[in-house]
Amino acid sequence: MESKFYEDAIDYWAQVPATLEGVLGGFEFISDDDVKGSSSFLEELFCCKNSSPPERNIALDCGAGIGRVTKFLLTKYFDKVDLVEQNQQFLEKAHHFIDNPDKIGTMYASGLQNFKPDKKYDVIWNQWVLGHLKDADLIEYFITCGNSLNPNGLIIVKENVTSSNKLEKDEVDSSVTRPMKHLLRIFKKAKLKIVKELKQEDFPKGIYPVHMFALRPNI
Ligand SMILES: C[S@@+](CC[C@H](N)C(=O)[O-])C[C@H]1O[C@@H](n2cnc3c(N)ncnc32)[C@H](O)[C@@H]1O
Repeated sequence: MESKFYEDAIDYWAQVPATLEGVLGGFEFISDDDVKGSSSFLEELFCCKNSSPPERNIALDCGAGIGRVTKFLLTKYFDKVDLVEQNQQFLEKAHHFIDNPDKIGTMYASGLQNFKPDKKYDVIWNQWVLGHLKDADLIEYFITCGNSLNPNGLIIVKENVTSSNKLEKDEVDSSVTRPMKHLLRIFKKAKLKIVKELKQEDFPKGIYPVHMFALRPNI
């Protein structure tokens, strides 16, 4: 059985409409700038100047919601995209929402804390979901992701970070927002090294700063 922290998040997301507005908590107007920022970040990682760019065969969209990141970003860069999302209603919506179904591989209905990939990926994209994992589970999850990468594969993390430098809890959706130093400590414990890091630009003032990280196992 899942702990209350996870159960509460399941209950929260169960009553959220399967729409862009729903998955972005009323901030759907930032989606275009978000995708622009993610595209530039990815393109720099693919760039020939980068010593070991990932392949573009298959990506995994984690905590995928209705498939926003898959539809507007990942299907533009990868031949196939798998999705993992614990809310079944969101996954059903994703089938209709994503307009190039030939690019969609497997949709897994699972919490990330329980997810064990059965294949390897070039990119594993995690956006606005990792605050729903407890620290110990997040470290385990990152280790699992690291073991599920193809050669030159990358884990991408795109998450809010606090400006207060403190961990902030959200009792409404049962999540936490971590300060940068906390996130860096988790990467270190999971033995991940940062290949690239960038702050998302052009987001409205008054929301959490959003940072993108490209990570690889530190071997
Ligand atoms: C803020 S939405 C972001 C969705 C998507 N990543 C995006 O950027 O459009 C958070 C998503 O995480 C999912 N989620 C919450 N807890 C999760 C967990 N433990 N495992 C997998 N998905 C989870 C929710 O159901 C929801 O779809």
